[in-house]
Amino acid sequence: MKNKRTVLVTGGCGFIGANFVRLVHAEKPGWRVITLDKLTYAGNLKNLEGIAEGESYRFVRGDICDGELVASLFRTEGIDTVVHFAAESHVDRSITGPGAFIRTNIDGTFTLLEAARQSWLGGKKKVAEPCFLHVSTDEVYGSLGATGKFTETTAYDPRSPYSASKASSDHLASAYFHTYGLPVRITNCSNNYGPYQFPEKLIPLIFNNALNHRALPVYGDGRNIRDWLFVRDHCEAIVRVLDKGKDGQCYNIGGNNEKENIEVVSLICDLLDAKLGCGTSGQPRRSLITFVPDRLGHDRRYAIDATKISEQLGWQPKATFERGIEETIDWYLANRQWVEDIVNGSYREYYAAMYKQLASGESRPKINRREEQQ
Ligand code: NAD
Ligand code: TYD
Repeated sequence: MKNKRTVLVTGGCGFIGANFVRLVHAEKPGWRVITLDKLTYAGNLKNLEGIAEGESYRFVRGDICDGELVASLFRTEGIDTVVHFAAESHVDRSITGPGAFIRTNIDGTFTLLEAARQSWLGGKKKVAEPCFLHVSTDEVYGSLGATGKFTETTAYDPRSPYSASKASSDHLASAYFHTYGLPVRITNCSNNYGPYQFPEKLIPLIFNNALNHRALPVYGDGRNIRDWLFVRDHCEAIVRVLDKGKDGQCYNIGGNNEKENIEVVSLICDLLDAKLGCGTSGQPRRSLITFVPDRLGHDRRYAIDATKISEQLGWQPKATFERGIEETIDWYLANRQWVEDIVNGSYREYYAAMYKQLASGESRPKINRREEQQ
């Protein structure tokens, strides 16, 4: 097994990318990492604070759709590995503005695949053991009923502009393996949670609102199910796929942690009450739970069958949800300024537009209060 790599990490300043760069920095001293990130609203240089530029690390601000820039990185940096995280990643934003998802997720992936093909298969100089790892989602498989799990052979059935754009990028990546022999591996993972997640996603959004005694928006009936994967487990799985996986293969990565949204939200409330007390109102934070109109086309249930990666590569998730969520809440409590810096910026306009129903009477939600429904 080779232990030196030059890895192009796209989207390394986002949530999972930053956790991955940090893991590699700590545990793979022989690897050189180049982060390529456009620094969209979701990219944050603070996520990589403490990782200094030098021999083993370089940051490049740029767009994965910029073919010249991407090609020049392959030419000048001797890249032999790509871990492709960069994407527009939030389903709600894909419903209100799908264009950016088509551009970054489809055109951007195409640009990277094409640059890898030209560099690894078109050049005179052979690259030893190249690998293009495309990071994707379980959402490409669609929505499950009460039973069953997604396997690597489940038919694709994406149902949001986000998942449709990710499905398209998976198909392109797979086509580059079958058509050109590009050494592509694809991972499809379930919902991640952990440090550095942008507070538009359920867990950090609920944390921030609950911390500040604001209404906690739960879509629909709150009974949609997600299979929560601790981000460190996910990053370890990616390293395992790089080290031991096979080209042309897909690997599903899940946390074995299926939870209804209402359970997740309630648990965050209880953890904060236990750690900080209920606040001046004396009301437990669960009383802030507010059912709001459902997301359009809201997928009901996702669940991953991770047997393949477990049996073939020996990877298993280590974190139970209870442990992972507590570690996550502790991280957010210890890094309140990180959250503050985000929510005090352009996030305000996003939140106001997205959660209009809550805009007035933020701390005393009037619509569909949970207790009023019961
Ligand atoms: P994120 O939104 O937190 O970060 C995305 C990063 O990509 C940001 O740093 C952003 O600046 C960068 N980026 C966006 N457009 C770019 C462009 N055109 N060029 C260069 N950089 C660009 O996303 P995340 O949650 O870390 O997700 C990473 C990957 O994992 C995505 O491909 C996503 O589809 C996939 N995924 C995420 C989850 C999850 O629960 N977060 C679950 C399954 C799959
Ligand atoms: P999210 O974190 O956006 O991830 P995804 O849509 O990729 O699964 O949402 C997780 C679940 O939480 C999903 O069922 C939608 C729901 N949700 C809410 O109920 N309220 C919210 O404010 C958000 C952001 C999500």
